[in-house]
Amino acid sequence: MAHLKTVSATTKTWSELSAEVVAVGIFSGGKLTPLAKDIDEAVGGQLRSAIERGDITGHAGETKLFYGKNHRLMAVGLGEKRKLDLERVRRASGTVARTAIRNKLATVLMEDFAQDKKGAAQAQAEGVILGSYQFLDYKTMNKDDQFLLKKVTVRSWDRAGLKKGALIANAVCFARDLGNHPGNVTTPTKLAQEARKIGRRGRMSVWVFDRAKFTKMGMGALAGVAAGTDEPPKFIVMEYWGTKKSEAPKVLVGKGLTFDSGGISIKPASKMDEMKFDMCGSAVVLGTMHAIADLRPAINVVGIVPSTENLSGAKAYKPGDILKAYNNKTIEVLNTDAEGRLILADALAYASKHYKPEYILDFATLTGAVIVALGHVATGIMGTDEKLIKRVKASSRATAEKVWELPLWDDYCHQVRSKIADVKNIGAPMQAGSIAGGAFLKEFVKDGIPWCHFDIAGTAWADTETTSQGKVKEKPYTPSGATGNVIRLVLDLIGS
Ligand code: BES
Ligand code: MN
Ligand code: ZN
Repeated sequence: MAHLKTVSATTKTWSELSAEVVAVGIFSGGKLTPLAKDIDEAVGGQLRSAIERGDITGHAGETKLFYGKNHRLMAVGLGEKRKLDLERVRRASGTVARTAIRNKLATVLMEDFAQDKKGAAQAQAEGVILGSYQFLDYKTMNKDDQFLLKKVTVRSWDRAGLKKGALIANAVCFARDLGNHPGNVTTPTKLAQEARKIGRRGRMSVWVFDRAKFTKMGMGALAGVAAGTDEPPKFIVMEYWGTKKSEAPKVLVGKGLTFDSGGISIKPASKMDEMKFDMCGSAVVLGTMHAIADLRPAINVVGIVPSTENLSGAKAYKPGDILKAYNNKTIEVLNTDAEGRLILADALAYASKHYKPEYILDFATLTGAVIVALGHVATGIMGTDEKLIKRVKASSRATAEKVWELPLWDDYCHQVRSKIADVKNIGAPMQAGSIAGGAFLKEFVKDGIPWCHFDIAGTAWADTETTSQGKVKEKPYTPSGATGNVIRLVLDLIGS
């Protein structure tokens, strides 16, 4: 856990404040804001001269440092002024945080990049904190190299916006930590402990069912997947009642597969380490509940996390086995590596039976096929309710967390029917793999409940990105590793 926790607001002028660097935005064309003009004078007009010589053009993502006798100035490109949206603000703010860390500058004073724009202060705080994130927990040597950003102050009147952005970004960083810790640390037990902590902080009720309990309750699919590991599996339920109980809750379900070896249908060795990230769906749920515990919105939300490892111990489930899920449907297991949909089957059936949800959303690193289809750019979404999908797309636009809808036509749904059981856990070989995952999950959501499935396999963790110039670099506010993607989207959607 290494990131900035808060962003301060000030309305004083920059010369009344002391910070190791003052960050100002430059639009393309090189026009200076009043603050930029002022501080440029203190560094001897270097900024204006850099613009005149074409060394700074103001294109988005550009940064340069200038030095005066008593001051440092960081210029940050914001791109075209009329195109400055909240995502640009978030990215520029992330760039400031990362540039400060790279140059070992611990205190930063920033200009408000998009004065008067609604939501700009929130976006700025989100960008700074998300950009300041580093995962350093296991670096025991060279502590000097591990430089942390200490304080960022924004010249802004919108204290509330900055505070909200900071709380949300902290929740995303919490989810990133859960994902980045290895499988021997982020265990199902650990997820349950974190759920309980959030529950205490947010006045939520939390239940944790262990192997004996959920098996007895009839969760045969989760029990099947968990049979191959000695690491105790958990089924976690969190309830947040922020308004009258008569109001239908929004139910969030997340795949908490803390390590996926593939089981008996074992995965190849290369990159198998990445399967520690197979619990990122559960991190979306816990991250969202983390933010809810701070924001206390007047809504009702239920979070459900089925969690286990998928290993190949002596008692492991096998290809050909038939499991019975919580809604009594039978499942023929044709590949033990399609385990995410099995543990979600019980969770979706549980949500359908015990609540009357306004809607159910599920989050899962479900298929490699979604990476083939959409790369690491967009989350694949599927659902049964047009209105809900429309709202998801609107929240996606508002938060710049990209989603793309895949069709769930009956033609695909037929592909998960089994010859000898009700359904099978794979679709047609080599075809529409992500949709087959969605079609399978649909069998466990009660008819009539609006539902949307998020396949986050491509967006839950980041490597480096290749820019149009072919350069490889990290995104401005998303360092490599677990991203915490779609938490901001979900918070927007549920109306937090
Ligand atoms: N966790 C994986 C999906 C995955 C693969 C996520 C690669 C990110 C990167 C999931 O449990 C899985 O193994 N899915 C199989 C399904 C198949 C056997 C039908 C897959 O995608 O190959
Ligand atoms: Mn798998
Ligand atoms: Zn998996």
